[in-house]
Amino acid sequence: MSQRPIIALDFSSKNQVADFLAKFPQNESLFVKVGMELFYQEGPEIVRWLKSLGHSVFLDLKLHDIPNTVEKSMTGLAKLGVDITNVHAAGGLKMMEAAKNGLIRGTESNKQVPVLIAVTQLTSTSENEMHEDQLIEVPLTESVLHYAKNAEKAGLDGVVCSAHEAEMIHQATNEKFVCLTPGIRPSGSEVGDQKRVVTPSEARTIGSTYIVVGRPITQAILPYEAYQTIKNEWNGASK
Ligand code: C5P
Repeated sequence: MSQRPIIALDFSSKNQVADFLAKFPQNESLFVKVGMELFYQEGPEIVRWLKSLGHSVFLDLKLHDIPNTVEKSMTGLAKLGVDITNVHAAGGLKMMEAAKNGLIRGTESNKQVPVLIAVTQLTSTSENEMHEDQLIEVPLTESVLHYAKNAEKAGLDGVVCSAHEAEMIHQATNEKFVCLTPGIRPSGSEVGDQKRVVTPSEARTIGSTYIVVGRPITQAILPYEAYQTIKNEWNGASK
């Protein structure tokens, strides 16, 4: 079965999302990412609406709070029917376990529990910033790996990571452990503010389980064509 790249809906209103989705065939079931920008302006209704259109939703809210609060919030997110959601691994083992429990509690018995992944170190954080701001003295990769192993220990399904970290994480975790990677650019395209990018086929080779693609699709003159090109490359079709 061909896999869908996850399209980052980095828009600030439902109207903008509707305009964007109108460029896709009506019956095309997409996998989309709703982040803080859209969620905080349109609320849970945006997720219900996208689900009602038949799309899969990765709700990227990166929860990080006390375990009790995260657990109850996750129960609510599971009730929305999200397919993937996430927390910060920095919240600790207990918080991650609570998040998982909350999702299980909120999922109807005939439905799949949403995939739960952890953010390790944000890719916007440099090694120097990690040392100075977080007083973490180990190298950045060691911190990323530690957080990934903690996520596995807490029963999470995987992590958000740069494709460059995927191989190292796969080696240290079980074979089902998910690596979801943003920072994807089709060969020959604009890099924008992303510093370390890989192409969809490189991401596949390196071991990404899911890829998240924003501007190369949302800002394309022909978004559906851009989506299909990226999807084909992701699924290993020769160019
Ligand atoms: O437009 P672009 O493809 O760069 O968008 C990537 C998406 O992935 C954005 O929604 C961005 O916030 C998100 N993201 C990222 N890097 C991370 C985590 C999330 O680019 N480390």
